[in-house]
Amino acid sequence: MPLRVVITRRLPTIAQQLLQARGIAYACLEELGLLSHVGIVEQSTGAAALLTTLRERVDRRVLDAAGESLRVVSNCAVGFDNIDVVECARRGIYVTNTPGVLTNATADLTWALILAVARRVVEGDSLVRSGGWTGWEPLQLCGLEFDGATLGIIGAGRIGSAVARRAGGFGMRILYVARGVRPELESACAAQRVSLDRVLDEADVVTIHLPLTDETRHLISEAQLVRMKPTAILVNTARGPIVDEEALVRALRSGQIAGAGLDVYEDEPRLSSGLADAPGVVLLPHLGSASVRTRERMARMAAENVISVLEGRMPPNPVNKPALGRTSRDRAEPRP
Ligand code: GLV
Repeated sequence: MPLRVVITRRLPTIAQQLLQARGIAYACLEELGLLSHVGIVEQSTGAAALLTTLRERVDRRVLDAAGESLRVVSNCAVGFDNIDVVECARRGIYVTNTPGVLTNATADLTWALILAVARRVVEGDSLVRSGGWTGWEPLQLCGLEFDGATLGIIGAGRIGSAVARRAGGFGMRILYVARGVRPELESACAAQRVSLDRVLDEADVVTIHLPLTDETRHLISEAQLVRMKPTAILVNTARGPIVDEEALVRALRSGQIAGAGLDVYEDEPRLSSGLADAPGVVLLPHLGSASVRTRERMARMAAENVISVLEGRMPPNPVNKPALGRTSRDRAEPRP
């Protein structure tokens, strides 16, 4: 039987072209009108690879349905909290992601949100469009100026560091929270590693760049929002559940913080009650990696991860270390 790849959603065509060029059979569930959790479970039976996006939950039900044939779950995303990575490893299944290629696009979008919230771009646009603008006024829609202000970066990995590099042009002081010191960030951007509390106490802009884990879920909740300055803004382009959305709505409504820019939500695409009309918010539909070039690169990388495993090589971007046995037949071991 030819190796079968289940692609959940329509991707840039390069993904299918690469599979086709290697003679690998695939089915795209969205194209077949079968895209749902039940559809994925049903269609995974006998699949050798699943090429998923961050929206699909790959849990034990999917893995049970796929059975012994499944060798790789390739997520077309840098985050992989939608996949039961530990269970995949236990079953000898690689999980892969698409790191690096979306760093710049996501850092750019983070700045789009920072600027939009700080300078009240969306409120200004609405005012002009509504016909309610009566002309220049000294006190109208004044916001935060960046020069000399403090940018607080929570999570200084690839994306957090790229956000920091872009801050130089705005003359901001940079504080960051990370497990270890980032010497390149400190020398290139004069950034200083501090505690989370210090970022919350001192930053004018707090921006989140962490993966979603048990440790980071609701990392920013009531107690953290209370520490922030009333003039500060919070931006999240990482994963929604890192911020307690109900606490955020309360903080915005009570004026505890000045605004928030969100690209991600606790329960996408649903919004917590009160979020859409909270003051000072700019809301985007999870667009961090949405540049034409980046989405193509992600699709290429996700397909290449699949092809490597199906052709018996180690995938370029593994995020787990599958148990020996199943993978030994692949003649490949993941990086430690
Ligand atoms: C986007 O959120 C990604 O994880 O790629």
